[in-house]
Amino acid sequence: MENNNALKNGEVKKSEKPELETAPAPVPENIKKFREVSAAARAGDPERIKAQNDKGKFTARQRIQYLLDENSFYEIRSLVETRCTDFGIKDKHIKGDGVITGFGRVNGREVAIFAQDFTQLGGSLGLVHAQKISYIMDLALEAKIPVIGLLDSGGARIQEGVDSLDGYGEIFYRNVKASGVIPQISVILGPCAGGAVYSPALTDFIFMVEGISHMFVTGPSVVKSATGEDVDFDTLGGSHAHGQQSGVCHVVAKSEQDCFRQVKELLTFLPQNCNEKASAPSSEDSIDRKTPFLEQICAMDPRKPFRAQHVIWELADQNKFFEIHRDFAKNVVVGFIHLGGEVVGVVANNSDHLGGALDINASDKAARFVRFLNAFNIPILTLVDIGGYLPGVEQEHGGIIRHGAKLLYAYAEATVPKITLVLRKAYGGAYIAMSSKYLRGDFNYSIPSAEIAVMGPRGAIEILYSRDIKAAPPDKTEEIKAKLTADYAAKFASPYQTASTGAIDEIIEPSAARSRIIHAVRILKNKRDPRENPRKGNIPL
Ligand code: HXC
Repeated sequence: MENNNALKNGEVKKSEKPELETAPAPVPENIKKFREVSAAARAGDPERIKAQNDKGKFTARQRIQYLLDENSFYEIRSLVETRCTDFGIKDKHIKGDGVITGFGRVNGREVAIFAQDFTQLGGSLGLVHAQKISYIMDLALEAKIPVIGLLDSGGARIQEGVDSLDGYGEIFYRNVKASGVIPQISVILGPCAGGAVYSPALTDFIFMVEGISHMFVTGPSVVKSATGEDVDFDTLGGSHAHGQQSGVCHVVAKSEQDCFRQVKELLTFLPQNCNEKASAPSSEDSIDRKTPFLEQICAMDPRKPFRAQHVIWELADQNKFFEIHRDFAKNVVVGFIHLGGEVVGVVANNSDHLGGALDINASDKAARFVRFLNAFNIPILTLVDIGGYLPGVEQEHGGIIRHGAKLLYAYAEATVPKITLVLRKAYGGAYIAMSSKYLRGDFNYSIPSAEIAVMGPRGAIEILYSRDIKAAPPDKTEEIKAKLTADYAAKFASPYQTASTGAIDEIIEPSAARSRIIHAVRILKNKRDPRENPRKGNIPL
């Protein structure tokens, strides 16, 4: 094709196109108006913004800016207003209706996001506000990307009556439909009351910030009038109440900045959806790195407690562990690590708290985490050191049978790679529950000092030899018990009987634990659920 601008002798012909005017064209009136409307909608009320900042809180817009990659926010429906005509709220023309919604990127990955704006009607949820949230949830589910909610809301908007309940109902329904399909993260950044707490409770992870996050179904004044109890905001529904006691909150942060940093970190362990695998950064940490702390465990008095985190740190790439539910049910430790560059979820009994016994809360905590991992294709590493379920009337009447069964169910149901390492005690039903061979662990390992038995030696001999013990002279009882216990322990409290049955695949050198586990994860990399596309919801347990 002939090039018009190029002459044969190499000269360039002057363009025949008319030159553009150098002075900028005046901005058309309609664009000016759009820019004004748009800027006003985003500006907010300076007094209310100041009040929000004075409470030590960011505004919804500041939060989005902080969490998302620079200039990545793609807002939608910024101009919608309530349709409610009661109490004069329509006349206020509040643009956005108390919530900012859209899409953006976190460390380069697409997410859907909504941020409730406490400066507009207390972030309360009316019908249009709910429709905005529902819409981005629908798109996120279709596009298969995570949803992050930043919540700061007085709950159902009282002025809108049952329309707000309608709105909550629609969100709850979507939370359940998205469960196990896309990760859902809730960040509580203010008072969240009534309906504002149940949507987060249906999501996978709840973050709270010390001092500014509160969650309750009914606030202190309703509690006072209903039960007569005097309780303040923090005691009733602060980050400590939910991070330590109720287990509603998964991660407690010191500040909003710290909270966003942790949300970003959590996302590095999650896939975009249930059809993908989490991508992990390549690791510089040697696969063959030795694990001396595990050797120490072999030499340790078996009754001496140790923190499960020490083992996890030692096994993990760069010794990094993102712990979930750190202060709740500390007898079991759960969280994410990278292992040889792969994302792995860890569940570990922790002898440093209640001797590592499984109780109601620990069973719920571990079961829900296992179900999350299974829903999102994340291999499970289980570190076992457990004497049994916690005995006692309180536990029995509280339903340890019902709650303990959840863990058995979760492990048996899980089809992701399951690697188990018995570190010390593994007795009875609790041993079965902790990803044993019977629940289809793929690789079940033990270090040589492990004690795998139907029950602890002392308890076993007291039942087996009760007549002999009763018949013995009182001053000899302890001596006889000690001898029987030692004999029983020598025969049964080791991994060898279990290894001979194949319920332990291999007894391994403790210092080689990291490399053995990484190899197991790599071997199982392409393990898939044999059922075609089974949906695995993450029901709150
Ligand atoms: C409408 C609300 C509101 C609500 C707060 N506001 N909550 N407007 N509906 N639910 C408004 C206030 O009127 C006020 O408006 C502004 O938000 C700030 O509220 P303040 O009370 O001044 O702030 P603060 O002292 O920080 O207290 C925040 C609060 C408190 C703890 C959230 O406002 C509160 O207790 N609100 C009600 C909480 C509640 O009971 N919600 C449950 C709703 S029923 P102005 O214009 O004066 O500044 C529900 C059921 C759903 O949610 C069930 C679904 C399963």
